[in-house]
Amino acid sequence: MPKVVVVGSINMDLVALASRFPEPGETLSGERFATFAGGKGANQAVAARRLGAEVTMVGCVGDDLFGRDLKAGLEREGVDTHHVHTAEGTASGVACITVSGAENHIIVIPGANHRLTVADVEAAEAEIATADVVLTQLEVPLAVVEATASVACRHGVPLILNPAPATALPAELLAKVSYLTPNEHELSIVLDAGDTPFPDMMARLPGQVVMTKGAHGAYHVDAQGAFVHQPGFAVDAVDTTGAGDTFNAAFATYLGEGAAVAMRYACAAAALSVTRLGAQGGMPHADELTAFIKDKA
Ligand code: RIB
Ligand code: NA
Repeated sequence: MPKVVVVGSINMDLVALASRFPEPGETLSGERFATFAGGKGANQAVAARRLGAEVTMVGCVGDDLFGRDLKAGLEREGVDTHHVHTAEGTASGVACITVSGAENHIIVIPGANHRLTVADVEAAEAEIATADVVLTQLEVPLAVVEATASVACRHGVPLILNPAPATALPAELLAKVSYLTPNEHELSIVLDAGDTPFPDMMARLPGQVVMTKGAHGAYHVDAQGAFVHQPGFAVDAVDTTGAGDTFNAAFATYLGEGAAVAMRYACAAAALSVTRLGAQGGMPHADELTAFIKDKA
């Protein structure tokens, strides 16, 4: 079972379901409200853990009800939270999410996630050094992501960077990334590439990009320049929130079997994740994932 260290965000998701999205200035009656544990970092930690990885989370919650709840939730899932800090006088990260017809709109308020520091990452150096893979995203300060990349690189541990929410990234950081896992839109922002076709964007970082494309699956150009497409698995989607996180976690967990195999597990896990409401609802356990892939073969 691989050891995965996740450096990233922990949010409470405040989810409103409605028959459609409201127009600006419009008040719309919704169908349902619920809170779910979320945050790209925590989602990836939970998904990897359910797939059997040994997972350590490095993150920061606020000293509020949400923070206590979120940390306890990670512990219940079996994620090691010794490096999950609590920021005094700060609210936990929250995401205001509207779900309609399986699509979502999300506003993230980082709160305590932006109190995670470079020193916190350095304090987790021993964990990172002994990991099989490190996973990070962009909901914590960029300096923290850069420190994570430096520590992983120093110890020769593969780093997966899920560049979400997207921002243009310095070449120095990209050079330390083993796998960059954007969707098409995020890849264009990361590379500041405008509407360059995606195969051309991927060719700019040979071997490094695993691009997701929703129900179409994922694309990769391997180090030899071969183009790999893993088609998506058809399911009835209820809520796509957290599908990308599930993809990343499965890709990390199965990376030991090679990128092409890992992409297959990742697409299948992401498909299962969208069949239930909530980012972490629907994230499969290993046996469920294996059975699903067998069934679809
Ligand atoms: O990727 C999905 C996640 O993005 C949600 O759980 C929400 O918290 C936002 O961070
Ligand atoms: Na889900």
